[in-house]
Amino acid sequence: MRLPCVLLLCLGAATVSAAFVLSPTHWTKLILTHHWPTTFCKMEHCHSNFNYWTLHGLWPDKGMACNSSWAFNSSLIQDIIEDMKKSWPDLRHPNSTGFWKYEWQKHGTCAAVAPDLDSQHKYFSKALELYHKIDLSSVLKKFNITPSEEFYKFPAIESAIENFYGAKPKIQCDHHTGNGAQSLGQIEICFDSDFTLLDCEKETVGVGLRVGKGRARASEFRVCDQDKPVYYPPL
Ligand SMILES: *[C@@H]1O[C@H](CO)[C@@H](O)[C@H](O)[C@H]1NC(C)=O
Ligand SMILES: *[C@@H]1O[C@H](CO)[C@@H](O)[C@H](O)[C@H]1NC(C)=O
Ligand SMILES: *[C@@H]1O[C@H](CO)[C@@H](O)[C@H](O)[C@H]1NC(C)=O
Repeated sequence: MRLPCVLLLCLGAATVSAAFVLSPTHWTKLILTHHWPTTFCKMEHCHSNFNYWTLHGLWPDKGMACNSSWAFNSSLIQDIIEDMKKSWPDLRHPNSTGFWKYEWQKHGTCAAVAPDLDSQHKYFSKALELYHKIDLSSVLKKFNITPSEEFYKFPAIESAIENFYGAKPKIQCDHHTGNGAQSLGQIEICFDSDFTLLDCEKETVGVGLRVGKGRARASEFRVCDQDKPVYYPPL
């Protein structure tokens, strides 16, 4: 009767140590998340003057809050602070660095196992670099997808983005728009660990890393419905 117990213990121990070794260092994908300030602020009751897609974050696909002893320090990113304020604003608390601190602690400390992202300066600069390279607002405009009181068909938006980048985005909406419509809210563009574009997964159930606690409650965005009209709200 002893043997199975011993075996089970061994198996248990092996699983735990494997999980420990693989996580959180074992991410394979980075998710560059943009949000549409007007939709975000309608949900979060903030006020925004941003008429372009802003950064929400750069998230590894695995791992969360990987190193609590690595404190955020805004003086390490002083040289890029103007771009941070423009491209990665805290929509709920303008003039605060709290959003960046939160994103660093939750996602940056996990991304930092990659040599290209292993400092706060590298992490935030790389996110800004990818954001500018992707230039989502201009790409949408190029396809005549602009904020409007007219509704869009979802597949038109999705295929414009996918065809342009050659990779599948994940597009999320606020589903509380009324009148059978949904509002464009969040667009994710994915990269592999070499920063090459990659298809995003389109899971409908939010994975843990997206369930913000208190701060950016992106969990309220869900993948857009293919068949419902899409509202892309102007300022
Ligand atoms: C966590 O961050 C601290 C401070 O930067 C660093 O000294 C330490 O090596 C990190 N630990 C791990 C496991 O990366
Ligand atoms: C933040 O970083 C700066 C520059 O490296 C350093 O002088 C300062 O002591 C750091 N602040 C904290 C609270 O660690
Ligand atoms: C807001 O930002 C300005 C300019 O960057 C700064 O001088 C001021 O102290 C900030 N206010 C608060 C409440 O943080």
